Amino acid sequence: MNRVTLTINGRRHSATVEPRLLLSDFIRHEAMLAGTHVGCEHGVCGACTVLVDGQPMRSCLIFAIQAEGSAITTIEGLAPAPGQLSLLQQAFKDSHALQCGYCTPGILTTMTAFLAENPAPTEDEVRDALSGNLCRCTGYQHIVDAVMLAAKRMAEA
Ligand code: FES
Ligand code: FES
Repeated sequence: MNRVTLTINGRRHSATVEPRLLLSDFIRHEAMLAGTHVGCEHGVCGACTVLVDGQPMRSCLIFAIQAEGSAITTIEGLAPAPGQLSLLQQAFKDSHALQCGYCTPGILTTMTAFLAENPAPTEDEVRDALSGNLCRCTGYQHIVDAVMLAAKRMAEA
């Protein structure tokens, strides 16, 4: 067993875990944050994507002990304050960019990092950045529309 201490959404979490415990399971079962979804559990679907020190990573491909000392941001940490939505979350709502919502946490974390690096993307760039996140409901057009809308609102702000 190993002691792991990391920060999730600004709050420190510490637990003694087995070395094989995945970061996704640490987030869901130790930190009790169920917004990070697990789909394939082998790095294909992107549903489990979280930000690790600002970089999007698949939490099912990282052991919790590998994230020791890191600052993690999950879907629960994207909004600026309780009861509010981030600009990207609001754009998803306004563009009807989700149905079942299973893929949505991973897409939002991935696109949050993407827009931070590329705040004025083309549609092709958005589609390319989305290529590692699978959605089986929306057909992607509304997701692309939402990211483009968020970029437009960011520019206006
Ligand atoms: S659950 Fe991690 S990539 Fe699918
Ligand atoms: S909204 Fe259902 S999988 Fe994407």
